[in-house]
Amino acid sequence: MKRIKFILFSSFVLLICLLMLSFIKEQKNEPYIFPQVSHFPKMPLNPNNEVTMEGVTLGRYLFYDPIFSADSTISCSSCHSQQYAFSDSPNQFSKGIQQKTQQRNTLALFNLAWYPKLFWDGRVNSIEEQVFHPVRTESEMSNDWISITKKINRSTFYKKMFYKAFGNKEIDSVLISKAIAQFERTLISYDSKYDKVIRKEAKFTMEELEGLELINDFTKGACSHCHPTDAHGLGTTGEFSNNGLDEVIDPLNYTDFGLGKTTQNISDNGRFKIPSLRNLAFTAPYMHDGRFKTLEEVLDFYSGNIKKSVNIDSKMVFVHQGGAKLNKYEYKTWYNIRF
Ligand code: HEC
Ligand code: HEC
Repeated sequence: MKRIKFILFSSFVLLICLLMLSFIKEQKNEPYIFPQVSHFPKMPLNPNNEVTMEGVTLGRYLFYDPIFSADSTISCSSCHSQQYAFSDSPNQFSKGIQQKTQQRNTLALFNLAWYPKLFWDGRVNSIEEQVFHPVRTESEMSNDWISITKKINRSTFYKKMFYKAFGNKEIDSVLISKAIAQFERTLISYDSKYDKVIRKEAKFTMEELEGLELINDFTKGACSHCHPTDAHGLGTTGEFSNNGLDEVIDPLNYTDFGLGKTTQNISDNGRFKIPSLRNLAFTAPYMHDGRFKTLEEVLDFYSGNIKKSVNIDSKMVFVHQGGAKLNKYEYKTWYNIRF
């Protein structure tokens, strides 16, 4: 009798174990559901880094964790702060490890999946690849991946989180960059007043409507050549351009070569990533070197201070007269439009 009971009990235990095992095997990650934005081009995905809820949660922890900097003082969020659309407003240049100053204005982080190239000079082709840069850069986080992976592997919290996101894979720099990139892919700017109007959930005021017309009017601002706001509602073409900030006759005289530094082609010197017109109210100062403190200064430039620059974009149609010659009422309508 005892023997039968024992056999029954052990087969019961075995059954439970088998059930649990099959459950673990079957355990699937929950896919992250992205918003469908009809006035954006289709969102490019990375087939090697499927975005899941577990991966995004992990990536968010890593983004805010100073574990990445050599002296554990700086995280990605030290320079990319959510309240400023993940820029470092109002600082012209961010300070990295040991207060070291960066060379260019910190870019805001949103709609990154759509950008074919990242950084002001386009030196990186994917979000996943980008993560490697600040970590290794001496003036930013100045760290090496061996010590980071060691630190992360010592943490039971992260071990659990990585297991949930990626299963039994070894935690290394590739997996870490994938997780951060998954979080970054979810930073999508698509719910401004402008978006609501496009979705027919709100209406522009008269002034806002005039502001939008100004941006699109090729005899006025002509901004939409480079900062489109129509079916391509990202506020940027994602291309690289020179908008005539400085008078430069010899292409070797640009103080920052920008895209030219990446391509080694002198006709790319002085060309920079065209930033989006979204979230501008949160991301001052402006331009790759943060030279303009306010949007009024930006408009002063486009209105009457455009310089002859050898590599200037042919789409800067008002360069012969120094700018689009906007009046103060047009300035006001432009401020009113919020992307
Ligand atoms: C010390 C400040 C600092 C830290 C820390 C920092 N960044 Fe940045 N980030 C910058 C600056 C400055 C730029 C622009 C540099 C350039 O274009 O040359 C930038 C650019 C970027 C871009 C490119 C955006 C675009 O539109 O092209 C991404 C993505 C990014 N950072 C993500 C991160 C992540 C992820 C981390 C953490 C691993 C991080 N950053 C840490 C200052 C920082
Ligand atoms: C030929 C392309 C082109 C046109 C046309 C153009 N821009 Fe730009 N815009 C750029 C480029 C390139 C930059 C970045 C330049 C740099 O930093 O070196 C820029 C930067 C900006 C910025 C700064 C954004 C930031 O985050 O730093 C604002 C604001 C802006 N443009 C508004 C406008 C307005 C308003 C108009 C129309 C009056 C306009 N642009 C027309 C190419 C253009």
